[in-house]
Amino acid sequence: MSGAPGGQGAGTSSLGGTRARAERVFTGIGQLVTPAGPGAKRGAQQGELLELRDALMAVRGGRVTWLGPATAWDGVADDVIDLGDRAVVPGLVDAHTHLLWAGERYQDLDDRLSGVPYERILARGGGIRSTVRATAAAGRGALLAAARARLDDLIASGATTVEVKSGYGGTVEAEVASLEAIAELRTAAPVSVVPTLLIHLPDADDRAGHLRAVVERLIPEVAARHLAERIDVFVEREAFSVDEAERLLEAGRAVGLERTLHADQFHAIGGVELAVRLGARSVDHLEASGVEQIAVLAGGSTVATLLPGVSLELGLRGAPGRALVDAGVAVAVATDLNPGSSPLHSTSLALALSLRLNGLRPAEALVAGTVNAAAALGRADAGWLGVGARADFVVCAERDWRSLLHGLGGPGPIETWAAGRRVDRGAVIARDGHVAGDSVNGDSVNGGAA
Ligand code: NIG
Ligand code: FE
Repeated sequence: MSGAPGGQGAGTSSLGGTRARAERVFTGIGQLVTPAGPGAKRGAQQGELLELRDALMAVRGGRVTWLGPATAWDGVADDVIDLGDRAVVPGLVDAHTHLLWAGERYQDLDDRLSGVPYERILARGGGIRSTVRATAAAGRGALLAAARARLDDLIASGATTVEVKSGYGGTVEAEVASLEAIAELRTAAPVSVVPTLLIHLPDADDRAGHLRAVVERLIPEVAARHLAERIDVFVEREAFSVDEAERLLEAGRAVGLERTLHADQFHAIGGVELAVRLGARSVDHLEASGVEQIAVLAGGSTVATLLPGVSLELGLRGAPGRALVDAGVAVAVATDLNPGSSPLHSTSLALALSLRLNGLRPAEALVAGTVNAAAALGRADAGWLGVGARADFVVCAERDWRSLLHGLGGPGPIETWAAGRRVDRGAVIARDGHVAGDSVNGDSVNGGAA
C-alpha cells in the first residue's frame, strides 16, 4: 500500500472564498483504502492500493465530491455521518452472477457427494437443464422474489454493482422473459445492476435451428429493447464449440453488446484464445487454464475473472490467479452465484476464498473485486473512491480493512452504502415503501428499466 488520495475535490475556501458544500459528509473513517482510479490494474499495479487514515468523504448527487484527511476539510455539509472509526473500501463489484433462477439443486449436491461428476449430471439432462425446466415452470412473481432475496444477500456482503445473467431460459421467448424479469429487478434495485444475455446450452434436439434463432431473433430483439448490455457464451464440451461461440459473439458485437465468455471450466478447448482474439471484455472460470492460456491472456486486454466458489463447490483446482497476476493479466473475482456450480451468496466471501484457492494477496483480491471487476463490466465510475466516483462503499467491521477478507463470512456486520445512502438488509425485498433508518428500500439507482 502506498500514497494517499490527499485532499482533493471541488472547491475549498481557497476557491473564490466559496466553501465546498456537500449534501453529506462521512467522518470517522479510520482507514480508507482504494484502487487509485478507474481502469483495470495488472501485474504489480494489481497489488497497489491508496491508503488514507482518519479520512473524510463528501458526497453530492450520489458522487464523491471531496476526499482527503478530515483535518483538511473546511466545507459545509447538510448532514454529517460518523462511521465509527472503521475502515472503508469501495463497494464491491460482482461481475458474474446467475441469480435469476427457480428450483434448487439439492439432489445434485447429494449425487456429486456420491461421486457423480457435475458434467455427467448435465449430460444426462440434469444440472443446468433441470434449472431451465424449473425456471420455465415458475411464475414471474416467484422468480423475482427469489432473485430479490439473492441480490439482498450480495448487497449485505458488500456488493454495490451486480451483474445478472439470463441463461436459464433456453428458448428465444424464455430468454427474453428472463431479461424482462432482470429489468424489473434492476428498476427497483438500490444498487447498480448490469444485465447480460447468456447463451448457456445448445438445444440438444435442434442445435442448428436454435443457433439460427438466437442469431436472427434473440440477439437483435435484446439489443433493440436494451434488455442487456453484454452477451456471454458457455464454451465447453457439453455446451458450445469455439466456432459456435464466435458466431454468437460476433452477432452480439454487431448490435453493440459487450462480449464475455465462460471458458476453461473443465477443458481448455480454445475459449480463452477466442476471448482474447475477439477482444472480449472478460473471460470467466479458467479452472482448466494452463501456461498456454495464461500467455495468451498476458498478450491481450481481456480481464480474467476467477470464480473460487466453483472450485470449492465442485472440487476443481482453483484457477491460476497467482500465475495470472504475475504474468501481468488483469484479474477479477466474482461469486458466479448459481444453484449448481457455485451457491455462493457473498461477494466478500468470494474475495476471501480467492486468497485461499487462487493465491491472490489481499490487496490483489480487493482490486479484483472492485476496479478490475468494474472494468470487466465497463463501469468507469465504480470500484474506486475519489472525486467523481459513485459514492458506493463498504464500511468494514474493524479499523483494518483486511478484516473483510481475513474472516470467512465474518467478522460482521459490515455496512453497504450505495450512491451515498445506506442499503440495509431487506432493501431489495421490501417494496412496500417502508424505510428503516437511512435505508433506501425500493429506491433505484439504475434510472428506470434497462
Ligand atoms: O458459471 N458453467 C456454466 N454455467 C454456470 C453454472 C450454472 C449452473 O450449474 O446452473 C457456471 O458455472
Ligand atoms: Fe457462470
